[in-house]
Amino acid sequence: MSLAPLAIYIHWPFCRSKCPYCDFNSHVRAGTDVARWTRALLSDLDHQAAMATDRVVTSIFFGGGTPSLMMPETVAALIERVSALWPVAGDLEVTLEANPNSAEAERFAGFAAAGVNRLSLGVQSLDLEALRFLGRGHNRAEAIAAIRLARASFARTSFDLIYARPGQSLAAWQAELDEALMLAGEHLSLYQLTIEPGTGFATRAARGELTIPEEETAAALFEATQQRLAAVGLPAYEISNHARPGAECRHNLAYWRYQDYLGIGPGAHGRVTRGGSKFASAQRRNPEAWLAAVEESETALDALTPIGCEEAVEEMVMMGLRLVEGVPRERLEALAGRTVEEMFGGTLPQLVEGGFLTLDADRLAATAAGRQRLNAVLGALLA
Ligand SMILES: C[S@@+](CC[C@H](N)C(=O)[O-])C[C@H]1O[C@@H](n2cnc3c(N)ncnc32)[C@H](O)[C@@H]1O
Ligand code: SF4
Repeated sequence: MSLAPLAIYIHWPFCRSKCPYCDFNSHVRAGTDVARWTRALLSDLDHQAAMATDRVVTSIFFGGGTPSLMMPETVAALIERVSALWPVAGDLEVTLEANPNSAEAERFAGFAAAGVNRLSLGVQSLDLEALRFLGRGHNRAEAIAAIRLARASFARTSFDLIYARPGQSLAAWQAELDEALMLAGEHLSLYQLTIEPGTGFATRAARGELTIPEEETAAALFEATQQRLAAVGLPAYEISNHARPGAECRHNLAYWRYQDYLGIGPGAHGRVTRGGSKFASAQRRNPEAWLAAVEESETALDALTPIGCEEAVEEMVMMGLRLVEGVPRERLEALAGRTVEEMFGGTLPQLVEGGFLTLDADRLAATAAGRQRLNAVLGALLA
């Protein structure tokens, strides 16, 4: 019998500065004790390994925060420990998120030597004014240099851009996207700006100082993005992610396909199947509280909570409809113990007729229009 796949997420919660749009678990600190943090992350990994034995690790993802602030030695130690704890796939994907600051770019070679084989760069924009507006610590030249260096240093690369920014016209976005395509490899993540509660942008938006584009304009930008990327051979495979077929991020696919993953580090969560049922793991979010808890009792896992059948169905649908491929009908029906029609009888036909969902013998999937307003579609479907 082949071993079930396992993805491993490792969270580095520190950043040089806090971007005003970001609500990730990221914190600015004057200094970090590298040895203590390395020990604690290794300890969390050791502890959680017991929750998911008999697996083959298919991907490791260093996310943040800003994992490019980690020492390459820490990254190397964590990758080595994963290989000591589990068998790893021959094509193990190891992604690290990096900021394009020149200081961090200097570490790219160290990360590659540590075993990172995929770099995901937070470029956010190629426009200097926009970078200032987004509160980024890098400029346009650093972004371009970091993309070039990443492509020369890693087998696989991707970069993130944020669009649908205040006042951004369709023409301006198309020009920025065209420039990005000249620099890009096989993968791009293109996010529409969202105003997250509790962020600097949320405060400014509440004061009326910042307005994101109307729904109609945002939809037009999304549509244009889909078409342009498909035309150059990087079709969407998820709401915001585009890749040459075969070059998708395997780690993120594991989330969206509702496969098992462990979450290592502050605030990281996981989903693990044990005895045929899914369990959710959550961790303390505050970095210092997390570190203290791990040093005291090896782990800072808050809880391992069983996920009920109905909740698991909801999670599978919420994750799977983000993907262009959608959710396999067979998996969904096996989990729910009833047909898709029985599950969503009420609103499903309307959402299909409205052009937001498709359902055939194999899959339930969202159309591009459905993916663009997925929250509303899910709200109607799961009501
Ligand atoms: C964990 S964050 C970034 C990691 C890295 N520290 C960086 O800033 O490059 C992942 C990505 O989410 C996107 N993102 C974060 N907050 C966002 C928001 N409010 N709206 C749109 N995209 C957002 C950004 O593109 C960012 O690169
Ligand atoms: S966007 Fe990246 S660099 Fe900025 S605060 Fe969030 S995690 Fe940190």
